[in-house]
Amino acid sequence: MNILVVGSGGREHALVWKIAQSKSADPFRKDISNGVNKIFCAPGNGGIQELAECVNIKVEDIDGLLKFAMNKKIDLTVVGPEIPLVAGIVDKFQEKKLKIFGPSKFAASLEGSKVFAKEFMIRNNIPTAKFRAFNDSLDAKDYIEEVGAPLVIKADGLAAGKGVIICQTEVEAEAAIDLIMEKKVFKEAGIQVVIEECLEGEEASILAISDGDNFVVLESSQDHKRIFDNDQGPNTGGMGAYSPAPIVSEDLKKEISQKILKPVIDGMKKEGHVFCGVLYAGIMVTKDGPKVLEFNVRFGDPETEAILPRLKSDLVELIFAALDGKLADFKLEWDSRPCVCVVMAAGGYPGDYERNKLISGLEEAKKLKDVVVFHAGTKRENGKILTSGGRVLGVTGLGKDIKEAIASTYNAVEKISFQNAHYRKDIGAKAIGRSNEATTYGTK
Ligand code: AMP
Ligand code: GLY
Repeated sequence: MNILVVGSGGREHALVWKIAQSKSADPFRKDISNGVNKIFCAPGNGGIQELAECVNIKVEDIDGLLKFAMNKKIDLTVVGPEIPLVAGIVDKFQEKKLKIFGPSKFAASLEGSKVFAKEFMIRNNIPTAKFRAFNDSLDAKDYIEEVGAPLVIKADGLAAGKGVIICQTEVEAEAAIDLIMEKKVFKEAGIQVVIEECLEGEEASILAISDGDNFVVLESSQDHKRIFDNDQGPNTGGMGAYSPAPIVSEDLKKEISQKILKPVIDGMKKEGHVFCGVLYAGIMVTKDGPKVLEFNVRFGDPETEAILPRLKSDLVELIFAALDGKLADFKLEWDSRPCVCVVMAAGGYPGDYERNKLISGLEEAKKLKDVVVFHAGTKRENGKILTSGGRVLGVTGLGKDIKEAIASTYNAVEKISFQNAHYRKDIGAKAIGRSNEATTYGTK
């Protein structure tokens, strides 16, 4: 069996790493095709190259990916980022009878359009922040005057995680409208905006895998979106994550499954578009219960780096169970130990960032027990690893408890260096205070 992973970040390195451990890599197993013979990754990065053959096709180049998959007789394609999903890669591969894991273009609108997602939530009675959608900036400003701050202004379309502006005053909210609708900083992604009530609480990420009818919920996790410690400074793609998130008790997980995940899967089916793939719900745990901040239709980054090292089940089998509509009987097995992922970023990130810095210490970090260094923005040149992206590495460690996972991860981080590297020092700290409530630790 040949597998193609699409993408080039830490999430894709974690996916390739986990796929490479698949039991189906054993060619004598009869139950899944012929075993994993080869993993390809498009375009991949300097770390992924150790486990997969990287091919230079961009994630936006759907025709190029399709041609490659047909030529190489790819048996399964796993898509990391949202751009090809929202552009309809799944529909195109399926037209050619190729197996691909992810939702259709229609179902991917849950991530591709915030207006679609909010209206879908209303239709299906899914708890979320109160909102209004606008395609006229003057109407949007009238509404801001009417309801008052604080408010959250969101560009409708994909904006690489930067299209959400939290506004404490009406002046800020009106400036956000100008930025998105008049200055068009997010181009056509900002033709419409969603204006939302500002929710208070703690955030968590819940990822589920769905076969269209049934779904399994992965262990919870928590992202750290802001660049600086104590959630200060601008938003980034995510500076680190840990799993499980103690705030997500077993009861809360059940509530999220019943009130949020199930209505999405059932609602999509009812509307004639089964949702097969990863459903990621960004949740705010408010005093009135869990509410949806956003949906993504793919594995989270860096959540995936903190979740997959804990997954004992075979990822390839899990994905095939989803594609074959057999998730109803699929039991996930987990390592009960918490996992922490710390992102090391390039100088300047999340603004314009430096590139081509030599990374040292990777071999030393690799030798540490229960540590894995996922590459995000790296490239390999003449046997050396250089930085090539804003988020450079996702240094990941397991520990018997969250404190040990944090200590072992930061110990590995300290072994690695490149010029002007920076990272948050408080990844996982929120979980420590809650470790007594950590009911999800040690789940089956
Ligand atoms: P989104 O891309 O929609 O998840 O938004 C990015 C981040 O903005 C979230 O992770 C939250 O930290 C914050 N956010 C989004 N919507 C709201 C809201 N309604 N209230 C408070 N914070 C929000
Ligand atoms: N960690 C946030 C995301 O993957 O969108």
